[in-house]
Amino acid sequence: MSILLNTNYFIKKEASFGATNYSPLPVVLSRGKGVYLWDVDGKKYYDFLSSYSAVNQGHCHPKIIHALQEQSKKLCLTSRAFYNDILGPYCEFITNYFEYDRVLPMNTGVEGGETAIKIARKWAYKVKGIPPNKAKVLFANGNFWGRTLAAVSSSDVKSTKNNFGPFMPGFKLIPYNDLNSLERELQDNNTAAFMVEPIQGEAGVVIPDDGYLEGIRRLCNKYNVLFIADEVQTGLGRTGRRLATDYEDARPDILILGKALSGGVYPVSAILADDELMLCIKPGQHGSTFGGNPLAAAVAKTAIQVIDDENLSENALNMGSIFRSSIEIYSNGSNIIKEVRGKGLLNAVVINNKLDKEIANKICLSLMKKGLLAKTTRGNIIRFAPPLVINKEQMLSSLELILETFRSFE
Ligand SMILES: Cc1ncc(COP(=O)(O)O)c(C=O)c1O
Repeated sequence: MSILLNTNYFIKKEASFGATNYSPLPVVLSRGKGVYLWDVDGKKYYDFLSSYSAVNQGHCHPKIIHALQEQSKKLCLTSRAFYNDILGPYCEFITNYFEYDRVLPMNTGVEGGETAIKIARKWAYKVKGIPPNKAKVLFANGNFWGRTLAAVSSSDVKSTKNNFGPFMPGFKLIPYNDLNSLERELQDNNTAAFMVEPIQGEAGVVIPDDGYLEGIRRLCNKYNVLFIADEVQTGLGRTGRRLATDYEDARPDILILGKALSGGVYPVSAILADDELMLCIKPGQHGSTFGGNPLAAAVAKTAIQVIDDENLSENALNMGSIFRSSIEIYSNGSNIIKEVRGKGLLNAVVINNKLDKEIANKICLSLMKKGLLAKTTRGNIIRFAPPLVINKEQMLSSLELILETFRSFE
């Protein structure tokens, strides 16, 4: 006999037996397709979070699911103790696609960051000639690249780092979007790398000035320092280009990808770099049991192909401008909308929370009731980042829901 279990049942299970490290919206999802999600009661929602941009290709994309299913019937995991017949061709494919000599496959975005920093440190000692244990890695204020000890060591958000010390040495924070501060730090001969998001996602979709990325590239060249671009959230079409660094002449030395490389189905991340850097890592010095497994390689290859085949970058560009122009028009004369900003389909609306600190969260709850899922970041900012497969009709009907909700809070 089947028992109909409702939302509260599942929420209670997590609350009773799961760790309390997240505070989800009270919606329990059981199905997804394209831009839509359904909860356990069958209610349909627009997904405007896309699992923090991991579902760029839309939920359960048929080609990606097909690749997953077909590969899962043949071979899933070998570890890197042996070769498999999928990883090599995938390495060739992804390096050709992004135009780097080599790839190092990992699983999650934060592992990508850890890997990039390890490679940068090794390069600093072996190639640049920085004295042992003196290598410095720079990060920007407001950065977010995950929750490991190294990631929180580089964070300036007190709530995520308090009581987790001692922290990783050799990290330094500088202001984001500030080339003068960067140049001052680069003059220190012990600086190995600057790791930065081309657009800061978790900080609230913070977009640097035009020329910032190019400036980083130029200064890093001048001082022989590595430019590491964390494109875990911005990569793979999200901002309207293949990569957000593609907007400028700013090819990073190390490119970190994650999230949408998974096609929204299976954790996959990757670090791309040229020989001089990648060959610093020798057998036994880095890796992961699951990194580069055949299932992940099959999924990631298809995930990239789908972005290309379906022109998802271009669609992100077009749908993103519809979204922003519509919110901008609305925001004239609005008491609650301070700003809308973004690139492609990575967008944020900054809410005026002077009178009510909880207003952005209340708006998200109200959107949820109306059938659209979005989440706040940094308190008063709501990120709007639907799967890149969203079409014009879906975007317009989502905007109706969003504007109707904003109006009810004026
Ligand atoms: C820019 C950026 N880098 C890295 C990460 C970490 O990725 P993951 O959660 O897969 O470890 C995130 C996650 O939100 C991110 O936004």
